[in-house]
Amino acid sequence: MAEKLMPAEMRLLVTGGAGFIGANFCHYWRQRFPQGHLVVLDALTYAGNQASLVGLMNQAGFHFAEGDINDTPLVEKLLHEHKLNTIVHFAAESHVDRSIHDPDAFLHTNILGTHSLLRAARKVWLDAPGGVIPHRFHHISTDEVYGTLGPQDPPFREDTPYAPNSPYAASKAASDHLVRAYQHTYGLRTTTSNCSNNYGPYHFPEKLIPLVILNILHGRPLPIYGDGQQVRDWLFVEDHCQGIGLILERGEEGESYNIGGHNEWANLDIVRLICELLDTAFAADTFLAQRFPHAAPAQGKAAESLISYVKDRPGHDRRYAIDASKVGRELGYTPQHSFAEGIRKTVDWYLQHSDWWQPLLGDVYAQWVQKQYAD
Ligand code: NAD
Ligand code: TYD
Repeated sequence: MAEKLMPAEMRLLVTGGAGFIGANFCHYWRQRFPQGHLVVLDALTYAGNQASLVGLMNQAGFHFAEGDINDTPLVEKLLHEHKLNTIVHFAAESHVDRSIHDPDAFLHTNILGTHSLLRAARKVWLDAPGGVIPHRFHHISTDEVYGTLGPQDPPFREDTPYAPNSPYAASKAASDHLVRAYQHTYGLRTTTSNCSNNYGPYHFPEKLIPLVILNILHGRPLPIYGDGQQVRDWLFVEDHCQGIGLILERGEEGESYNIGGHNEWANLDIVRLICELLDTAFAADTFLAQRFPHAAPAQGKAAESLISYVKDRPGHDRRYAIDASKVGRELGYTPQHSFAEGIRKTVDWYLQHSDWWQPLLGDVYAQWVQKQYAD
């Protein structure tokens, strides 16, 4: 077993720390280790938002660098200057629909960007005089690399063969292979986690759950792709962060860990559940109708009346499910939130944080939604 860093000794580079999961991870980590050193590197694409790092930006030991993970000299400089020994790599283009319309950005960031980070880590941690040992490169990946499952198939395990179906999934699969190769060939101390669909605060409203919440609040249609019977495993984002924390602390070099919520839902059922939660919230608090006058329940309509079936996503994976027994058995991982608790927290968070999402409903979101309906 390789020597490991204690969490208090870890000096982190968090790539994509202004995105959904990266920002949640920064909050999680700083709460656990307020004295630690953490540098975020984020290109602030449409999905990156410094407002998601509220409360952290001015803290001692927290630094924000705006930049591209493809800028290898910048990554080397950050590793040197801040004496960083741990990379937690979230930065990616992450939306399957966008990858179908425009795969190039996915190859650039997810494949070449990951390689740029690996190269920088190798140069600074392995090849420079003295090097940095121990160190850790943790790569955040997805269950989508395994492809799709039939209704009776067993869930994805770490040894399930890769069979990515979308350009997004293919680019993530390629990055996983590069991480594996850098461990195998150069001895870089890597770990990888493949997680199921996350939900929770700071989720950009192009993804299913925040899109549905905000569309209900604005009285817009709720687009259901195809028959809505596609199944995903959903995990509250804080539980994903907890899993990453455990892998950083206890994970074995060269290993991959699947993280999931034992929580499979058909899309249509999730959308109906969110509709019910918002109908109930509006019935219990009349002030909500004043704040969101266009919301279906404010107009005396059930939120479900907004459901609208649209053309299916090309190549749409039918079912994802995760076997998370390895991370449970070897690292003691169990998700802390039930789905009922996590989804209620998420709906409440969006109701209470219009200051966060309001600025996102401008051009990018409007154009994107229009583009989808135009197809
Ligand atoms: P996100 O799209 O919300 O955030 C991505 C972040 O990366 C943004 O802040 C963006 O500005 C930044 N970024 C993009 N390109 C960059 C570049 N070239 N250089 C530097 N920064 C760049 O994504 P997310 O949902 O938070 O996902 C984070 C990671 O987790 C991704 O690697 C994704 O594949 C993986 N993942 C996501 C989910 C999920 O349900 N969201 C599930 C499993 C795995
Ligand atoms: P999404 O949140 O994009 O995550 P992923 O594609 O990575 O699983 O989508 C979750 C599921 O919801 C997926 O099966 C596609 C479906 N979906 C819709 O039916 N309508 C929508 O408007 C969106 C964005 C997704």
